[in-house]
Amino acid sequence: MATTPVDLVNPFREGLKTDRATAPCQLVIFGASGDLTNRKLLPAIYNLAQADLLPPSFSVIGFARDSLDENTFRDKLKNAVATSGDVRVKDDAVLARLAERTHYVGGDFHDPASYDRLKAAIEQYGKQYATGGNLIFYIATPASLFGDIVEKLHDAGLAAADSADRFVRIIVEKPFGRDLASAKLLNAELLKYLSEDQVYRIDHYLGKETVQNILVLRFANGIFEPIWNRRYVDHVQIIVAESLGIEGRGNFYEETGVVRDIIQNHALQLLSLVAMEPPTTFDAREFRDEKIRVIEAIRPISADVSSSCVRGQYGAGFVDGEDVPAYRDEQNVAKDSITPTYGAFRFFVDNWRWADVPFYVRSGKRLPKRLTEIAIQFKRAPHLPFRKSQVDELSGNVLALRIQPDEGITLRFGAKVPGPSMRIRSVNMDFGYGETFGREDASPYERLILDCMKGDQTLFDRSDGVEAAWALIDPVLSAWQSDRNAAFPNYAAGAWGPAESDALIERDGRQWRRL
Ligand code: BG6
Repeated sequence: MATTPVDLVNPFREGLKTDRATAPCQLVIFGASGDLTNRKLLPAIYNLAQADLLPPSFSVIGFARDSLDENTFRDKLKNAVATSGDVRVKDDAVLARLAERTHYVGGDFHDPASYDRLKAAIEQYGKQYATGGNLIFYIATPASLFGDIVEKLHDAGLAAADSADRFVRIIVEKPFGRDLASAKLLNAELLKYLSEDQVYRIDHYLGKETVQNILVLRFANGIFEPIWNRRYVDHVQIIVAESLGIEGRGNFYEETGVVRDIIQNHALQLLSLVAMEPPTTFDAREFRDEKIRVIEAIRPISADVSSSCVRGQYGAGFVDGEDVPAYRDEQNVAKDSITPTYGAFRFFVDNWRWADVPFYVRSGKRLPKRLTEIAIQFKRAPHLPFRKSQVDELSGNVLALRIQPDEGITLRFGAKVPGPSMRIRSVNMDFGYGETFGREDASPYERLILDCMKGDQTLFDRSDGVEAAWALIDPVLSAWQSDRNAAFPNYAAGAWGPAESDALIERDGRQWRRL
């Protein structure tokens, strides 16, 4: 299928004096036999190769515990490309060239001898592919291993400081820690050997086209910004809904739950992009300063957590046309688990722009559909010069940013129903990415890996950013952890969360959007 090549140039760099180019480099993936590498990273690297966006001097080294031989890892690459829904154009010649440059080192993450072998491989392939000593380590392992890996890389002489003619960068996956204390510790461990501008904390939501478009919508148009504040906005609703369950990841999810998996990172990223002040430029420092200011301005959650936060866990039910088990009956989940699979929150951003405007955020597994959306609900017109009988149905104006799927933007407003009498109804004005641009989006990982190769940290988290998000969320985690009397399950798979979640917003005289 012919598709338009995907333009992966970071739009935020445009207008700056120079755009950065990708330098020669080696990409070393820790956790190379894991699920993320297979589902996301290998297809993303192939897509970059296919779009001719990788530097000519480039190679991949996979590192993991499994004692695979090189050909088996290359077969994994080929299989990942063959089966991934993210791959847009299958080109055997590109894949063969990439496979030739893909190598594998098996070893223990804690064993210094393994790092010596890795170092020997890096030196050998570095010469072979003329990668100039530039290194990117993608650490796609559980967070508990990050600190040790970086220390061992340092001890092996692989995590040196950047110099004028070579760089060393580390990409670390989320969740970054499991609470404020562990995130601080992790930051300290990484920053003991690396400087902040060598660390790329990934949140793949920031790599999504529609998420970046929040900024374009707000800051490239003159008409939205004047009304983007407490005078005109009644409230904001953010939903990250998934119909999937935990997909065999019981061990991971038991440790994580919806708050650590989605709210602390993806959902708060969306909130900060909606609420941030316009930066003067999209320089990584300024952009991240503004984003972090929003998280720091969110009112701390009061001791009475239940007044602004609701937790839920799904029971058995019916989703996507099939019967599905309760969370507690999933593999590797405790029968009395209190891990939340649903969370609903009411936040306030205490600053001049947003004082007293609630931001309602909800996310859950096993909801009726997969959908991420941000809805800006505007205040109603101050006075309606129409009779009640003339108004069939008129909700306040809503600007809905559809992050996924069916990516687009909808503006809802009142219109006259055609006919001899005055009747009014709400209608939608719609923009769809697919129809307008007619091409498939690059996966977020492509954009983010490429940005790392360019040394552009704009779309990555900074240490103070992750810590601010944990500081906000920590009291909720502790309160829920210490109160084991959650009446779980409290929503059926296939429902929009527990009744308490409806009560949370209805107490304020508002309702969740019907989606
Ligand atoms: C990941 C979570 O970060 O995001 C998963 O660990 C979740 O549990 C996924 O399913 C959702 O990502 P997306 O891009 O499909 O919305």
